[in-house]
Amino acid sequence: MKKIFLLFGVMGLACSMQAQDIRLNPPTRTGGKAFMETLNERRSERSYVKKEMSVQMLSDLLWAANGFNRPDKRTAPTASNKQELELYVVLEGAAYFYDAKQNVLKFIAKGDFTAALGQANITSKAAVSIVIVADTGKTASKYAYLDTGYISQNIYLYAASAGLGTVARGSYNGAELFKALKLTEKQEVTLVHPVGFLQ
Ligand SMILES: Cc1cc2nc3c(=O)[nH]c(=O)nc-3n(C[C@H](O)[C@H](O)[C@H](O)COP(=O)(O)O)c2cc1C
Repeated sequence: MKKIFLLFGVMGLACSMQAQDIRLNPPTRTGGKAFMETLNERRSERSYVKKEMSVQMLSDLLWAANGFNRPDKRTAPTASNKQELELYVVLEGAAYFYDAKQNVLKFIAKGDFTAALGQANITSKAAVSIVIVADTGKTASKYAYLDTGYISQNIYLYAASAGLGTVARGSYNGAELFKALKLTEKQEVTLVHPVGFLQ
Protein backbone atom coordinates (compact mmCIF):
# COMPACT_ATOMS: atom_id res chain seq x y z
CA MET A 1 0.00 0.00 0.00
CA LYS A 2 1.25 3.49 -0.86
CA LYS A 3 2.35 5.51 2.12
CA ILE A 4 1.05 9.01 2.58
CA PHE A 5 3.58 11.56 3.76
CA LEU A 6 2.38 13.52 6.74
CA LEU A 7 3.80 17.02 6.49
CA PHE A 8 3.07 19.74 8.95
CA GLY A 9 2.62 23.49 9.12
CA VAL A 10 5.48 25.46 7.65
CA MET A 11 7.55 22.45 6.61
CA GLY A 12 8.68 22.82 3.01
CA LEU A 13 8.19 20.36 0.19
CA ALA A 14 11.83 19.40 -0.43
CA CYS A 15 11.59 16.22 1.60
CA SER A 16 8.45 15.21 -0.25
CA MET A 17 9.94 14.83 -3.74
CA GLN A 18 9.68 11.09 -3.62
CA ALA A 19 7.40 8.60 -5.27
CA GLN A 20 4.77 9.12 -2.62
CA ASP A 21 1.53 10.94 -2.06
CA ILE A 22 1.61 14.19 -0.08
CA ARG A 23 -1.02 14.91 2.55
CA LEU A 24 -2.03 18.58 2.32
CA ASN A 25 -3.00 20.76 5.28
CA PRO A 26 -6.56 21.93 5.91
CA PRO A 27 -6.93 25.17 3.91
CA THR A 28 -6.95 28.54 5.64
CA ARG A 29 -10.43 29.76 4.80
CA THR A 30 -10.16 33.21 6.32
CA GLY A 31 -7.97 36.28 5.99
CA GLY A 32 -5.99 37.43 2.98
CA LYS A 33 -5.86 40.92 1.52
CA ALA A 34 -8.99 43.01 1.26
CA PHE A 35 -10.93 42.09 -1.86
CA MET A 36 -10.66 45.41 -3.73
CA GLU A 37 -6.95 45.59 -2.95
CA THR A 38 -6.54 42.05 -4.29
CA LEU A 39 -8.29 42.98 -7.54
CA ASN A 40 -6.10 46.04 -7.79
CA GLU A 41 -3.01 43.83 -7.58
CA ARG A 42 -4.16 41.08 -9.98
CA ARG A 43 -1.69 40.84 -12.85
CA SER A 44 0.49 38.44 -14.83
CA GLU A 45 3.98 38.04 -13.40
CA ARG A 46 6.63 36.00 -15.22
CA SER A 47 9.81 36.56 -13.14
CA TYR A 48 10.18 34.50 -10.00
CA VAL A 49 12.83 33.79 -7.41
CA LYS A 50 13.29 30.05 -7.05
CA LYS A 51 12.09 29.18 -3.57
CA GLU A 52 10.29 26.32 -1.92
CA MET A 53 6.60 26.77 -1.09
CA SER A 54 5.34 25.65 2.33
CA VAL A 55 2.77 22.88 2.44
CA GLN A 56 0.29 25.30 4.02
CA MET A 57 0.66 27.82 1.19
CA LEU A 58 0.36 25.10 -1.44
CA SER A 59 -2.73 23.73 0.31
CA ASP A 60 -4.31 27.19 0.38
CA LEU A 61 -3.42 27.89 -3.26
CA LEU A 62 -4.95 24.63 -4.53
CA TRP A 63 -8.04 25.02 -2.39
CA ALA A 64 -8.52 28.59 -3.63
CA ALA A 65 -8.08 27.36 -7.21
CA ASN A 66 -10.56 24.49 -7.21
CA GLY A 67 -11.04 23.04 -3.73
CA PHE A 68 -14.34 22.10 -2.10
CA ASN A 69 -15.88 25.01 -0.18
CA ARG A 70 -19.09 23.03 0.39
CA PRO A 71 -19.46 19.26 0.84
CA ASP A 72 -19.93 18.67 -2.89
CA LYS A 73 -19.21 21.98 -4.63
CA ARG A 74 -16.11 23.98 -5.27
CA THR A 75 -14.52 27.45 -5.17
CA ALA A 76 -14.85 27.62 -9.00
CA PRO A 77 -18.21 27.20 -10.77
CA THR A 78 -18.78 24.82 -13.71
CA ALA A 79 -21.58 24.83 -16.27
CA SER A 80 -24.39 22.53 -15.04
CA ASN A 81 -22.11 21.66 -12.11
CA LYS A 82 -20.32 19.04 -14.20
CA GLN A 83 -17.05 19.57 -12.27
CA GLU A 84 -15.11 18.38 -15.30
CA LEU A 85 -11.89 20.15 -14.34
CA GLU A 86 -9.17 18.76 -12.12
CA LEU A 87 -5.75 20.10 -11.18
CA TYR A 88 -2.41 18.44 -11.74
CA VAL A 89 0.54 19.82 -9.83
CA VAL A 90 4.15 19.89 -10.95
CA LEU A 91 6.66 20.45 -8.17
CA GLU A 92 10.44 20.23 -8.46
CA GLY A 93 11.04 16.87 -10.11
CA ALA A 94 7.63 15.28 -9.62
CA ALA A 95 4.01 15.50 -10.80
CA TYR A 96 0.89 14.88 -8.75
CA PHE A 97 -2.89 14.81 -9.06
CA TYR A 98 -4.71 17.14 -6.65
CA ASP A 99 -7.39 15.01 -5.04
CA ALA A 100 -9.49 17.92 -3.80
CA LYS A 101 -11.94 15.75 -1.83
CA GLN A 102 -9.24 13.90 0.08
CA ASN A 103 -6.94 16.96 0.23
CA VAL A 104 -4.02 14.87 -0.97
CA LEU A 105 -1.52 15.18 -3.81
CA LYS A 106 -1.43 11.78 -5.47
CA PHE A 107 1.95 10.93 -6.92
CA ILE A 108 2.02 10.39 -10.69
CA ALA A 109 5.61 10.45 -11.90
CA LYS A 110 9.11 11.72 -11.27
CA GLY A 111 10.92 13.65 -13.98
CA ASP A 112 11.83 17.00 -15.44
CA PHE A 113 8.62 18.48 -16.84
CA THR A 114 10.07 21.79 -18.01
CA ALA A 115 9.90 21.00 -21.75
CA ALA A 116 6.31 19.81 -21.46
CA LEU A 117 5.29 22.91 -19.49
CA GLY A 118 6.98 25.23 -22.01
CA GLN A 119 8.42 28.75 -21.49
CA ALA A 120 11.31 27.37 -19.42
CA ASN A 121 12.40 30.88 -18.44
CA ILE A 122 9.17 31.13 -16.43
CA THR A 123 8.38 27.56 -15.40
CA SER A 124 11.89 26.61 -14.24
CA LYS A 125 11.73 29.36 -11.59
CA ALA A 126 8.16 28.70 -10.42
CA ALA A 127 7.62 27.04 -7.05
CA VAL A 128 4.74 25.09 -8.58
CA SER A 129 3.00 24.76 -11.93
CA ILE A 130 -0.69 24.02 -11.82
CA VAL A 131 -1.99 22.19 -14.89
CA ILE A 132 -5.75 22.44 -15.44
CA VAL A 133 -7.13 19.30 -17.07
CA ALA A 134 -10.63 18.75 -18.47
CA ASP A 135 -12.51 15.49 -18.66
CA THR A 136 -14.16 16.02 -22.05
CA GLY A 137 -16.37 13.01 -21.40
CA LYS A 138 -18.24 15.06 -18.77
CA THR A 139 -19.09 18.16 -20.79
CA ALA A 140 -18.69 19.91 -24.15
CA SER A 141 -15.22 21.38 -24.76
CA LYS A 142 -16.77 24.84 -25.01
CA TYR A 143 -17.83 24.67 -21.35
CA ALA A 144 -14.54 23.13 -20.23
CA TYR A 145 -12.66 26.08 -21.75
CA LEU A 146 -15.04 28.60 -20.22
CA ASP A 147 -14.90 26.94 -16.80
CA THR A 148 -11.10 26.95 -16.95
CA GLY A 149 -11.22 30.74 -16.77
CA TYR A 150 -12.79 30.70 -13.33
CA ILE A 151 -10.05 28.50 -11.92
CA SER A 152 -7.45 30.68 -13.57
CA GLN A 153 -8.93 33.80 -11.99
CA ASN A 154 -9.04 32.08 -8.59
CA ILE A 155 -5.31 31.37 -8.94
CA TYR A 156 -4.64 34.97 -9.99
CA LEU A 157 -6.59 36.30 -7.02
CA TYR A 158 -4.96 33.97 -4.50
CA ALA A 159 -1.54 34.95 -5.86
CA ALA A 160 -2.37 38.66 -5.63
CA SER A 161 -3.66 38.20 -2.09
CA ALA A 162 -0.64 36.16 -0.95
CA GLY A 163 1.97 38.35 -2.67
CA LEU A 164 2.92 35.63 -5.17
CA GLY A 165 3.31 35.85 -8.93
CA THR A 166 1.44 33.84 -11.55
CA VAL A 167 0.53 33.89 -15.23
CA ALA A 168 -2.05 31.96 -17.27
CA ARG A 169 -0.20 30.05 -19.98
CA GLY A 170 -1.71 28.60 -23.12
CA SER A 171 1.69 27.93 -24.69
CA TYR A 172 2.38 24.49 -23.21
CA ASN A 173 3.28 21.32 -25.10
CA GLY A 174 -0.05 19.47 -24.88
CA ALA A 175 1.19 16.17 -26.29
CA GLU A 176 4.17 16.07 -23.91
CA LEU A 177 2.06 16.99 -20.91
CA PHE A 178 -0.49 14.34 -21.87
CA LYS A 179 2.25 11.70 -21.69
CA ALA A 180 4.03 13.11 -18.64
CA LEU A 181 0.86 13.33 -16.56
CA LYS A 182 -0.37 9.92 -17.77
CA LEU A 183 -3.67 11.36 -18.95
CA THR A 184 -6.32 9.20 -20.55
CA GLU A 185 -8.02 9.58 -23.93
CA LYS A 186 -10.83 11.88 -22.77
CA GLN A 187 -8.60 14.20 -20.77
CA GLU A 188 -7.29 17.44 -22.20
CA VAL A 189 -4.98 20.09 -20.76
CA THR A 190 -6.71 23.47 -20.92
CA LEU A 191 -4.23 25.81 -19.20
CA VAL A 192 -0.97 25.91 -17.25
CA HIS A 193 -0.42 28.27 -14.30
CA PRO A 194 3.08 28.62 -12.87
CA VAL A 195 3.06 30.24 -9.43
CA GLY A 196 6.23 31.62 -7.90
CA PHE A 197 7.79 34.03 -5.46
CA LEU A 198 8.34 37.57 -6.66
CA GLN A 199 11.80 39.14 -6.91
C1 LIG B 1 -6.06 32.07 -21.88
C2 LIG B 1 -4.76 32.80 -21.65
C3 LIG B 1 -3.58 32.30 -22.16
C4 LIG B 1 -2.37 32.95 -21.94
N1 LIG B 1 -1.21 32.39 -22.39
C5 LIG B 1 -0.02 32.98 -22.10
C6 LIG B 1 1.19 32.34 -22.46
O1 LIG B 1 1.22 31.26 -23.05
N2 LIG B 1 2.35 32.94 -22.10
C7 LIG B 1 2.37 34.13 -21.41
O2 LIG B 1 3.47 34.62 -21.13
N3 LIG B 1 1.23 34.77 -21.06
C8 LIG B 1 0.04 34.20 -21.37
N4 LIG B 1 -1.14 34.80 -20.97
C9 LIG B 1 -1.10 36.04 -20.15
C10 LIG B 1 -1.52 37.27 -20.97
O3 LIG B 1 -0.48 37.63 -21.84
C11 LIG B 1 -1.84 38.40 -19.98
O4 LIG B 1 -2.97 38.05 -19.22
C12 LIG B 1 -2.10 39.70 -20.71
O5 LIG B 1 -0.92 40.20 -21.29
C13 LIG B 1 -2.67 40.79 -19.80
O6 LIG B 1 -1.80 41.01 -18.70
P1 LIG B 1 -2.34 40.93 -17.21
O7 LIG B 1 -2.72 39.50 -16.93
O8 LIG B 1 -1.19 41.38 -16.34
O9 LIG B 1 -3.52 41.83 -17.10
C14 LIG B 1 -2.35 34.17 -21.21
C15 LIG B 1 -3.56 34.68 -20.70
C16 LIG B 1 -4.74 34.01 -20.90
C17 LIG B 1 -6.02 34.59 -20.32
